Amino acid sequence: MKKILVTGGAGYIGSHAVVELYQAGYQPVIVDNFSNSEESVLAGIESILGVAVPTYRVDCADEAALRGVFEAEPNIAGVIHFAAFKAVGESVQKPLAYFQNNVGSLLTLLAVMPEFGVENLVFSSSCTVYGIPDALPVTEATPTKPASSPYGRTKQMCEEIIHDVSGAPDNKLRTILLRYFNPIGAHDSAKIGELPLGVPNNLVPFITQTAAGIREKLTIFGNDYDTPDGTNIRDYIHVVDLAKAHIVAVQRLLDHKADETVETFNVGTGNGNTVLDVVQTFEKASGQKLNYVIGPRRPGDVPAIYADATKAEQVLGFKTETSLADSLASAWKWQQTLKK
Ligand code: UD1
Repeated sequence: MKKILVTGGAGYIGSHAVVELYQAGYQPVIVDNFSNSEESVLAGIESILGVAVPTYRVDCADEAALRGVFEAEPNIAGVIHFAAFKAVGESVQKPLAYFQNNVGSLLTLLAVMPEFGVENLVFSSSCTVYGIPDALPVTEATPTKPASSPYGRTKQMCEEIIHDVSGAPDNKLRTILLRYFNPIGAHDSAKIGELPLGVPNNLVPFITQTAAGIREKLTIFGNDYDTPDGTNIRDYIHVVDLAKAHIVAVQRLLDHKADETVETFNVGTGNGNTVLDVVQTFEKASGQKLNYVIGPRRPGDVPAIYADATKAEQVLGFKTETSLADSLASAWKWQQTLKK
């Protein structure tokens, strides 16, 4: 089994990728500092796979500790780097922490990987790099725009750092940048899913917590945008579909099939849905009536964005399989397994 280091492997997307990696015949190794994840995730993964996944409680920005993981785990074939802070609002409050953690952990990783001859990297990027796009859907060739938050800026900076490092003479790094749209839902088994700390920032956990009675009501952030029903448009992708994109990306790198030292792919469904679409689809899929109100716009929100998913389909052979309704049903099933 080829060994793949998964930083942030106990997180929301990382945990689903660990499961898919193992099931595709890889040996995942988790590195996580558990700053925004819980140990219980490891039990969920073990329960799905029937085996424990080797896990190191290490902060990726800690170079000596990260080097210790590479020493303890010889023959790592590639790295999937999920570990990062991801809350847009928090990044405005604590910009330095975002740069230190998100940029710092990438720099550390890029310094340590070549010491051990590890050349393959899949990096978690985001559609946030497109800012407010001039035309929809966005392709990988759509120009990036100034980010609306320090969080978004860390993703842009990380992409640029990877390009620069790959361009240096004698550098052997090969990277696939995956620009995620909006991941939602949970594993079919309902043994792993999203575990937001405190009040969720993201739409779907807020919806499921409202339906579960944990939150009184959902506030929809504005209905006066230039969209069919006035609410924002996003491309919601089931987290297991998103996890599977990492497996094909890793496989492509290991097979030496990448055309360039850095390749970029949008990972979305190609469909745009409004916030009201999501609410109505959730109500149908779950049989729950959702208490919601229309509130003011949230500063920094992009009015509308969704992926042109053609490149991932043509080059990676990757296509999403899960409908919005099934994704939301899985989120609801997961919510019901959580204690209130
Ligand atoms: C944002 C970032 C994305 C990042 C993600 C991580 C942008 C454009 N996107 O996604 O890159 O990876 O955060 O968390 O910066 N909404 C409500 N009420 C709520 C919550 C959300 O109406 O209580 C609406 C938002 O206005 C938005 C949609 O739901 O239109 C999705 O919001 P959210 O889940 O927070 O994700 P993004 O902001 O799209």
